[in-house]
This record gives sequence, structure tokens and C-alpha cells, in this order.
Amino acid sequence: MATPRKFIFDTDPGVDDAMAFFFALASPELELAGVTTVFGNGGTRITTRNALRLVETAGRSDVPVVAGAEKPLLHPYRGRAGHVHGADGLGEAGLPAPRGAAQPGRAARFLADQVMAAPGAITIIAVGPLTNLALAVSLEPDMVHAVREVVVMGGAAARPGNASPVAEANILNDAAAARIVFQAGWPLTMVGLDVTCATVMSPAYLQALGAIGNPATDFIARIAPFYLNFHRTQGVEGIYVHDSSAIAYAVDASLFTAQAAPVHVCVGDDRTNGQTIPDWRGQWPDAPAANVCLEVDDERFKALYMERLRRF
Ligand code: RIB
Ligand code: CA
Repeated sequence: MATPRKFIFDTDPGVDDAMAFFFALASPELELAGVTTVFGNGGTRITTRNALRLVETAGRSDVPVVAGAEKPLLHPYRGRAGHVHGADGLGEAGLPAPRGAAQPGRAARFLADQVMAAPGAITIIAVGPLTNLALAVSLEPDMVHAVREVVVMGGAAARPGNASPVAEANILNDAAAARIVFQAGWPLTMVGLDVTCATVMSPAYLQALGAIGNPATDFIARIAPFYLNFHRTQGVEGIYVHDSSAIAYAVDASLFTAQAAPVHVCVGDDRTNGQTIPDWRGQWPDAPAANVCLEVDDERFKALYMERLRRF
């Protein structure tokens, strides 16, 4: 087996963030170097508590958790997604408080320092609003050459948004930051709604996952029902596992079909705020090309997820 790929998980946990976290830890292709948190599904105090719960549940309190941005660069924070993930961000499952605390410092500095200290080694997998990444690359512009890859769960190339008619939630939560990140010039893969909504974990699948009965699947079994109920209100019989799709890409990119294009992020007070527009025509060359995921082999992805969680 090749040397595992070191990564930092930039996250706003979130039920699907939690599922992605356990998937990553159970995948030998990846080695977790740190968790950075951001507002999004909850405020940063909540998402940081949740990140601590995740590392503790996994028995990985050795992994640093560093708190990040508390608000977007330009627009006001849109508020927590309590109707999707619960008021506590983790399905209102009555989870115990974490025992540990975040490491001192801020996520942007941590991201910049880690990447600059190991040129070519670190992948950033970002599954929340992109504020920490925008701040980090502003602190250390040379990060764009030193990072191995940036994998973003966010955006939508050829389908409607999930937080506005045109915008995906992570991008809408800080469109200005997303524009900085998409224009930075580092190798960037966009894992957007085009692929994340193509994978649905059904109630039967979740039941089989819960039956595995290890600390990760027990945790998922507690937090998933709230998230499943939200999907039912949207007419979806099962759950989207957006953030796990970004992990799946880092584990096995052959699950996805992708195409290169510069991606323009709309920023403003207009209704298009947060829209991601891939320039398939090559008319807007101001942004460097991103690798835009368009299709996924969802059955193979779900089989991989189940297989990995069994190993936890
Ligand atoms: O649009 C889906 C994304 O928004 C996921 O990352 C979810 O956790 C929320 O942050
Ligand atoms: Ca997320």
C-alpha cells in the first residue's frame, strides 16, 4: 500500500461531517493531521465542541482540533442549520459533552503553518464554508504551491442549489471566501451537489450500518435519525452524505468522473450570491481551472463506505 495521504479536515460538524470523519479515519489511504473548525451547520463554538466529540469517540484525542473563523468575510452569518442537523449540530441525540478542549490558536494559522512546513505533503479536505482557507491563503500566499491538493465539498455545476435556488450551503455561507479559494491557483477539486446528491443512503442501508455495532457506527446510529427526518420533509427517502463524497474522492478518485474548468463564484447582494458557474466555454480565464466532479459511481461508493466502517 502506498504511503497514506496526510490531510487536514476543515469542517462544521454536522451529521454528514461526522459520517465523513469516521469514513476518513477508517481509510488507510488517509492520515489525519488535524481538524479545523468553522461556523456553518452551527456557530464555531458548537462545531468545535462537535469536532472534539468526534476525535474522542474515535479514540483519537491525539489529533489537534483548532477552532477557526466565527463569521464570514463579507456577509453576516446566515445562522445554524438546526432544521437539518439539530440545534446541537449532531441530531439532538443527547451526546455527552466533550472532555477535551481545542488547541490554542486559530485554524487559518494552523492550516498555513502545517502546509508550509511540509511542502507537497498535505491535502486540505474542506467540508464547510471556506473562510478558514481564504484567510490561510491570505496569510501565506505560497500555500498554493506547497499544498498537495484542496478538495472542497461545495458548489453545484449543473443543478440547483440546496440553500438558495442557485447556491449550495457551504458556498452561500461565505461566497467571498469561496471566490478567494477558487481563484487562488492551487490544485482544487470541487465535489459539489452534482455528485453528492447522486448518492442516497437509504433507511435500510443505515440500518445495516448501525448493525455493525462499533463506536463509529453506534455514534452514526444516534445522530442520523434527525437528519433522515429532514430529508423526508424534502421528499428524499434516505440521506445525502455530502461530506463523505469529498473523502471518497481523496480515497479513490476513480469513483468520480470530473472535468476541468475555471469556476466563477458569484458574490454580491443579488439572488445569485454563492452560485458556482463553471466556464466550459473558456471565456473567463481569470480563475485557474478546478477539477469539477460531475458523476459518481454511487453503488461502489456506498459499498466502500460500508466496508470501511466495518473496519473501524
Ligand atoms: O450543502 C451541504 C454541505 O453543507 C455539507 O457540508 C453540510 O455539512 C453543510 O455544511
Ligand atoms: Ca459540512
